[in-house]
Amino acid sequence: MSKMIGILTAGGDSPGLNAAIRGVGKALLGRYGMKVIGFRDGFRGMMENRTQLLDSAALSGILTLGGTILGTSRDKPYAMTVAGTVRDMTDVIVDNYRRHHLDALVCLGGGGTQKNAYHLMKQGLNVITLPKTIDNDVARTDVCFGYDTALGIATEAIDRLHSTAHSHHRILVLELMGNKAGWLALGAGIAGGADVILIPEIPYDVRKVAAAILRRSHHGQGFSIVAVAEGAMPREAAAAQGKSGKGKGGKKKVQKPQAQEGAASHTPGNSLLLARQLEELTGLESRLTILGHLQRGGTPSAGDRLLATRLGTACADLINDGVFGVMVAARGDCTKPVPLVEVVGKRRTVPLNHCWIESARSVHTCFGD
Ligand code: F6P
Repeated sequence: MSKMIGILTAGGDSPGLNAAIRGVGKALLGRYGMKVIGFRDGFRGMMENRTQLLDSAALSGILTLGGTILGTSRDKPYAMTVAGTVRDMTDVIVDNYRRHHLDALVCLGGGGTQKNAYHLMKQGLNVITLPKTIDNDVARTDVCFGYDTALGIATEAIDRLHSTAHSHHRILVLELMGNKAGWLALGAGIAGGADVILIPEIPYDVRKVAAAILRRSHHGQGFSIVAVAEGAMPREAAAAQGKSGKGKGGKKKVQKPQAQEGAASHTPGNSLLLARQLEELTGLESRLTILGHLQRGGTPSAGDRLLATRLGTACADLINDGVFGVMVAARGDCTKPVPLVEVVGKRRTVPLNHCWIESARSVHTCFGD
């Protein structure tokens, strides 16, 4: 009898999800003769037993589509709101796994999804995961799909802001996603030539940012672009939360692993306050752009299609080999199964000595530190 595999997508959507579903599904169907069903809207759909057959017709023509054909949600198996009450629905999900005679469940998602998948693994399910998030912060993989597309969109936004900033001699602050990790602001900031890059890993001093902008102004550059991650924090706020960015004796502090839980706790208004403060401190007009969910929308980049396809097909190979309880990680040009226990409860933040930061400093980018 053919093996039956379930797939779901969970957490915030991300370009490349459909490419990954297609990669896993086509390889399972065509190469290994297995059957595939999708669960709608992440773990909620699995709890409510809402399924969709993923046959070759369903998997065709989805490579270039943004979002996820399966839908997604941020629901957790062990804490799901049902009829207004938060309940542990793990048993129902396990029952539905058995009801469909599944041989494995593939979970596509970010840090929260890895944790939820690990929880189901501990209930005895054959679980395997892929790392996706535009934040690029899943532990133990070189990169997550979704990041490359978002990087391109964010870089284009900085390119476009340059001409209007230049024409009006203004400071343009661009808020990018990344609540706990600054990969997107850092990558796009470097690629787009932002003058200031502010990321959660490096608490900033707004006076230092203003001083850098004024220095540019005195050198005849009457405009500045500030790329700020949504989770970037002024030093005072970071100190209040115990995040100085430096250890004792000025040494760089080791980033402590933190558990990721569902939706980000972004405080709207931080970037607006920053733009206002910079206006006051420099006397230059400033404007704020929040790129928001544009960063997650639309067709995946070629890089994300390629990454999602190779992770997806490697996932099918591992299922065929009976390897479970792992995340299929990207390692250079190859893939590597990493035990879920090594992934959960950690976040891949930007190391303070990362070469991208060094490069940016070499081209006079200010980090506000
Ligand atoms: O986790 C990915 C992400 O896009 C974060 O960058 C952002 O903070 C969050 O999701 C936004 O979540 P939501 O779409 O649920 O508002």
